[in-house]
Amino acid sequence: MNVVVRRDYEELSHTAALAFAQLVRTKPHSSVVLATGNTPMGMYDMLTRMKEKGEFDPSKLRIFQLDGYLGLTPEDSRSLEGWLRRAVLQPWGISNEKFVRLPEDTLDAEASIRSYIDEVQQAGGFDIAVLGLGPNGHLGFNEPPSHSTSPTRVVTLTEESIRSNALYWGGEERVPRQSITAGMDILLQSKAIMLLVSGVKKKDILTRTLSAPMQANTPSSYLTPLQSVTIFTDEACMEGQHLSSGEVHHE
Ligand code: PGA
Repeated sequence: MNVVVRRDYEELSHTAALAFAQLVRTKPHSSVVLATGNTPMGMYDMLTRMKEKGEFDPSKLRIFQLDGYLGLTPEDSRSLEGWLRRAVLQPWGISNEKFVRLPEDTLDAEASIRSYIDEVQQAGGFDIAVLGLGPNGHLGFNEPPSHSTSPTRVVTLTEESIRSNALYWGGEERVPRQSITAGMDILLQSKAIMLLVSGVKKKDILTRTLSAPMQANTPSSYLTPLQSVTIFTDEACMEGQHLSSGEVHHE
């Protein structure tokens, strides 16, 4: 695991965008799984600007949805597929053929999950995973407790996630109770994992992620032994964290 600490959210987004663009340059046909949530939006916007200047070419990527709420259509304002379409697929010009849904509107979740896993396997796994960090340590909607082997599945949201996601949708009653998520098993096997964590409100969970023993109650703790992981964070979030200097890069 590497930790890259930048001064603030803007610099974090900039550095993460450059790192992502470099990975794509190395392998233009990458299969990538992308988080929604607020944290990666600065990086996605930056990549959109780089695309407009000819500095980033997403045209060969295959993009996988990370997670979603069960029971919503993509047109629903709360749909995470809808959010990903607006933030990434449309600005990057990704066609439907190059997008693999984890369909929130599925009538047969088991069949949809099987077909998603098949697509991931056919792609040879994820080349790049861009993840945010939930206040409870969730990755995607792998809510605690989730093990390193937890598969792609339907998950019931914890009270903490309902509270934190209420910020997006204007009230807890607007947050669906069930989600569908790419499993820990396939996420942890990604060849490159970028975890984006910003701000003082994520300080406690970042501390737990970095220092607690690996445990299902903090799913993000399974990232720490992996060479493939880079955590992009900012000074507000890192203040007071103690890590060996080999792991931390202040840029
Ligand atoms: P955030 O969400 O990026 O909006 O903080 C992260 C998450 O809950 O996974």
